Amino acid sequence: MDIKTRIETAVAAAIVRGQSGVAPQRLAGALDYAVNPGGARIRPVILLSVAKACGDRNPALADAAGAALELLHCASLVHDDLPCFDDADLRRGKPSVHRATSESIAVLTGDSLIIMAFETLARAAGSDPARAATLIGLLAQRSGMPDGICAGQGWESEAKIDLSAYHRAKTAALFMAATTMGAVAAGQDPEPWEELGLRIGEAFQVADDLRDALCGESELGKPAGQDDLHGRPSAVTQLGVDGAKARLKDILSGAIASIPSCPGEAALAHLVQAQARQFAPLDMSASRVPGE
Ligand code: IPE
Ligand code: IPE
Ligand code: MG
Ligand code: MG
Repeated sequence: MDIKTRIETAVAAAIVRGQSGVAPQRLAGALDYAVNPGGARIRPVILLSVAKACGDRNPALADAAGAALELLHCASLVHDDLPCFDDADLRRGKPSVHRATSESIAVLTGDSLIIMAFETLARAAGSDPARAATLIGLLAQRSGMPDGICAGQGWESEAKIDLSAYHRAKTAALFMAATTMGAVAAGQDPEPWEELGLRIGEAFQVADDLRDALCGESELGKPAGQDDLHGRPSAVTQLGVDGAKARLKDILSGAIASIPSCPGEAALAHLVQAQARQFAPLDMSASRVPGE
């Protein structure tokens, strides 16, 4: 089975389990709406690619880790779009979950998906409880406080934001989860894989800041110009468009070099380069004027 099919199969199994029995139908429907159709699924693609590069000795555990990471990511988007955060009407080209349902259903959808993520790992623990426990710990670290998405979103309530700490926690954290969880699922130590995740994650956020400033809503499938609108620091507001592009190049050039030596190192380097070309087209130019 190819990586994309493995991800969709594992995510779908978790959602179906969450919808089974005598479940409240609006919330059950919202679980699927929040997760399907997906976005780029870049985090689980990286996770499974690292697991493959390390020998993929326990594919069922790797699949559970990939699904858990994607469920957590989708939950973070549902909560991020709520009126108390970014108040965004559009996500992946369709109404955000609270727009399609209600705020209370959207809060519960995000909560349910977070819990489902950890449950997915717990259910896969039988084949290797020690590795599953490490995976649960890594996902918790990269989603909570002080290093995870909660911290990243928390920075937005501070009077002064440290851009690097903000980007690291808001975005790079889940990419660090992707690389380290992929390694652990295949029986390797997580630490050597942190730098690769950090570099891909930081590059991804700089590219997202560039797209937010330069692209339009129809191109993005989500509202554009959000950093300006909410007065948030971004790579573009701090470095300018050319400075942000230079920073992106710089981070990406170190990413390949940071791949730890492993049996599938060359194929993984190829995958990282291909993913970077997709999310960070360096010839990106403005289809809207920043600030409008
Ligand atoms: C969006 O992530 C949130 C950011 C960290 C910028 P993605 O761009 O990976 O979202 P989807 O899953 O592909 O929609
Ligand atoms: C979302 O960040 C990342 C999360 C931690 C959920 P943004 O608010 O910058 O991303 P988009 O533009 O809504 O996808
Ligand atoms: Mg946000
Ligand atoms: Mg947002």
